[in-house]
Formats: sequence, structure tokens, C-alpha cells
Amino acid sequence: MAKKGKLIGIGVGPGDTELVTLKAAKVLKSVPVVFSPKSSKEKESIALSIVRPILEERKDYKRLMIVEPIFPMIENKKELEKIWTSASELISQYLNTGRDVAFITLGDPSIFSTYSYVQKKLIDKYEIETIPGITSFTACAAAKNKALVEQNDILTIVPKIDDRLNEILDYSDSIVLMKASRNTSRLESTIEDKKRPKEIYSVQNCTRENEKIIEGFSNEKPYLTTTIIQFSDD
Ligand SMILES: C[S@@+](CC[C@H](N)C(=O)[O-])C[C@H]1O[C@@H](n2cnc3c(N)ncnc32)[C@H](O)[C@@H]1O
Repeated sequence: MAKKGKLIGIGVGPGDTELVTLKAAKVLKSVPVVFSPKSSKEKESIALSIVRPILEERKDYKRLMIVEPIFPMIENKKELEKIWTSASELISQYLNTGRDVAFITLGDPSIFSTYSYVQKKLIDKYEIETIPGITSFTACAAAKNKALVEQNDILTIVPKIDDRLNEILDYSDSIVLMKASRNTSRLESTIEDKKRPKEIYSVQNCTRENEKIIEGFSNEKPYLTTTIIQFSDD
């Protein structure tokens, strides 16, 4: 029986191709299959746009297999489960023929990434390697030229606010609000009204051509928007 291929989860960083690690680029220069989920048929995958310049340098670029399944942005767990299962089955088909598959993911694969669900489904069946990437929120802090946490500061990463908000606001020193496009104005004023001295800034499209740093929450909220709240109580 043919040796099975290896699944390689690759974090491609926040947007600038120069922030793809050397290790990730090395794999992308030779892997036979690149798996790059996207949220809709019409939109290009952001992760793929980041690594395209690296892939295009390959002599065999025209023969490279780029698979772009649709992973819609939905919250229905049953539907998501079905999508992850069929994506895992599709990846298995390539792995079973002995080909390695690179699953590319925006930022770092361990932070709110679709790769993690597929990784869980395939972990006992195939060899898997995960290559970390620069995550969006450290890139946002770098764009602002300001540390996220110092000394004993506690950093909290929040994908969606729920009824834990007040505790988060009491006990965190820095808060990263990801997927900021889901923030409501009520949530934003609750945070602004919190009686702790603080700095709030948002970064849109960090490290990409249209990067924007905004003081406070941003009114416009493209998908790639992250808000950082830093308390300074001393
Ligand atoms: C599904 S999560 C993926 C996070 C990714 N795995 C990471 O490590 O950054 C998508 C969210 O990450 C944040 N994000 C990713 N890239 C970004 C960028 N270039 N600029 C600002 N925020 C970004 C946004 O909050 C966006 O809604």
C-alpha cells in the first residue's frame, strides 16, 4: 500500500507576504496540494492571496493542485460539522494517494482557525505537522508600536462578547476583540463607560496595503478588524 501523505497546517500570517515564515515558504515551494478554504464562491481566500506570490515562483505552478472548498461563515453547529467532515474526507483522498497537503490559514492556525476542526478529525489517521504563523493581534500591536502586555498584565482574547463581559472588563489588563465586525454599538459604549483609564484602538487590514489604525472603535468594520483595549490603572 502507498505511504500516506502528511497534512501540514500552515499559518500564513496577517497579510503581508513578507511575514510568511521561512519554514512555511519552504513547504509551499514544494508541496503538491494546497488546500485553501474560502467563505464564498465569489471571494478570493485571503490566505491564498497572501501566499500566491510564493506559489507563483514555482516552476510547476501551472500543475500545482489548489483546492478551494467553501467554508461559509455560519454558526449552525450541525451544518459546520457536516462541512468539516466533508473537507476532512476530501483531504483524506489526497493523503491516501501519498500526496502531502498544505492547509493554509490566516494568521496562526491555533487562533480561531477552521484548520483546527479538520486537524482534530484527522489527527489519529495521518501524520500531521502544524507550522505556526504570526497572529493578527500581535501584528496589530506591532503596527501601533506598542506592547500588548508587560510585567504581570493579563491578556484576554475575545471572539464574541457574551454575559462574561463585566468580568472580562474587571480582570483583564489588555483585551483583544477579534471579529470586531460583530460588535454592537451597545457593547462598545459599555466598554467605553467602564470606569478604568484605558486606551482603545482598532486596526483594519493590518500589514495589508490598506492598513488603517483608528483611535477607539472603528465605525466601518471590514472583516479584518481587530480592536485592542488596554487598561492603565496605576
Ligand atoms: C477567523 S479569525 C482568524 C484569526 C487568525 N487565525 C489569526 O491568528 O489572526 C478572523 C479575525 O482575525 C482578525 N484578523 C485577522 N487578520 C487581520 C488583519 N490583517 N488585520 C486585522 N485583524 C485581523 C480579525 O478580527 C478577523 O475578524
